[in-house]
Amino acid sequence: MFGRRVEPGGHSETVPAPRPAPAGPGAPRTPPDTGTDSAATPEASAPALSKAAQPPKKPEIVVDEASLDRLRARENRLDEIKVSVFNSLIEAIDLGQLSSLSADAVREEISDVINEIISMQDVVVNPQEQKQIITDICNDILGLGPLEPLLARDDIADIMVNGYDKVYIETKGKVELTTVKFRDNAQLMNVCQRIVSAVGRRVDEASPICDARLADGSRVNVIVPPLALDGPTLTIRKFKKDKLTFDELIQFGSISPEGATILEVASASRCNILISGGTGSGKTTLLNCLTNYIDPSERVVTCEDAAELQLKNPHVVRLETRPPNLEGVGEITMRDLVRNCLRMRPERIIVGEVRGPEAFDLLQAMNTGHDGSMGTVHANNPREAISRLENMVAMGGFSLPPKATREQISSAISLIVQASRLRDGSRKIVQVTEVIGMEGDVVTLQDLMVFDYLDETSDGRILGRHRATGIRPAFWDKARYFGLEDRLARALEKASD
Ligand SMILES: Nc1ncnc2c1ncn2[C@@H]1O[C@H](COP(=O)(O)OP(=O)(O)OP(=O)(O)O)[C@@H](O)[C@H]1O
Ligand SMILES: [Mg+2]
Repeated sequence: MFGRRVEPGGHSETVPAPRPAPAGPGAPRTPPDTGTDSAATPEASAPALSKAAQPPKKPEIVVDEASLDRLRARENRLDEIKVSVFNSLIEAIDLGQLSSLSADAVREEISDVINEIISMQDVVVNPQEQKQIITDICNDILGLGPLEPLLARDDIADIMVNGYDKVYIETKGKVELTTVKFRDNAQLMNVCQRIVSAVGRRVDEASPICDARLADGSRVNVIVPPLALDGPTLTIRKFKKDKLTFDELIQFGSISPEGATILEVASASRCNILISGGTGSGKTTLLNCLTNYIDPSERVVTCEDAAELQLKNPHVVRLETRPPNLEGVGEITMRDLVRNCLRMRPERIIVGEVRGPEAFDLLQAMNTGHDGSMGTVHANNPREAISRLENMVAMGGFSLPPKATREQISSAISLIVQASRLRDGSRKIVQVTEVIGMEGDVVTLQDLMVFDYLDETSDGRILGRHRATGIRPAFWDKARYFGLEDRLARALEKASD
């Protein structure tokens, strides 16, 4: 894994998968952790750039042109030192042998050798710079180079790399440009290769799109030129080890305590629930919360593209789809999984994301005794979620008349929960809607709870309240069957005050 050498110019040789080259002596512009210096980098001074990749709460420092020039010169000097140290390092140690050691041991070994090289080469660096050089080189050899500091942060939900010099992150629902940069597209491409080679794939002109996963479970999408016009493009949904709970969602104002109770009761009473929402609106998080109320005695089968759900239930079978291999064969689709799991005696089926013909099989399952099944769908409101399902069934080539499909949907789905990322960056549950049947050709929906927009604070935060509409839910009888109708009644009463 360490066997390849990266040229000082930063251009690595073509990297054969699945053993990509180290990303090179890059991360040159990873923000240094010095207080004044980092705040005064040229990037930080540009108004459009954020300081998101730097430690928070740095005092704002006004810098003049001369100091900026000095800092640029310092950065260039550090870059040159890094390249030279990296090259000497590659000559000094057998990277192949290091692969048998643990990451920490390798880091220690590399640090020692770098310290030696620096003292032997007689380069003038202060202790802070020396530390930075060691960190950056270790990140390049062992990890994902300039992305490492971002991956280490827990407050980041997404990392979006649009070519070597534009790295965006999403924190607290807001997308910001960071000061992190790769040295060039070749270094970025190397990082992409390294990520996808871990799942036995390769990205190049012939196969320019790839989904992969980082070792920590983060979901990754890579798309490279010629499809991505401005250089390799990497999108990472960071995996949260501790998924948010309903208590936290209540604390964030994403849902009211009563709203959470209504959803808990619906989940425990084995309603079939569809979570609808836009990209990154919190659908998977919500689905994960709902699974906490599944009775421990129930057998649950989950089907996902990339395993994100963390069920606490003891009796869970987790299934994951598989993309085709390098020869283009061996693909296992979501539909294959859902169909197979019907033969696994599931009590509930959970589909991470319904986006194709598996919609038909999930509806069938919901209609044939697998009550309490759940899934998520990309849609902007509950009505649209229904038509998305209808389209998915139609696209699957099932020659059902539209009315028959709608009947299937209306008898299968009990509840649609709409998640949304509002313009202030907050994620909220904006609608809890019941599917109650058909009127003529139309599926009838009724809102149980809605989010009313009230006002906006001076700092742009949206204020509102979750209000129950006062309608008695159609799943009342189910709640009563499970002895939960009192809880439901109290929550509904309180929410409609
Ligand atoms: N209510 C919330 N408040 C704050 N952060 C949230 C909330 N819900 C989810 N998040 C965070 O937002 C990010 C995206 O959440 P999640 O993966 O659930 O979205 P999604 O709708 O499933 O996205 P995708 O469409 O990409 O599958 C995660 O980092 C998650 O921790
Ligand atoms: Mg999701």
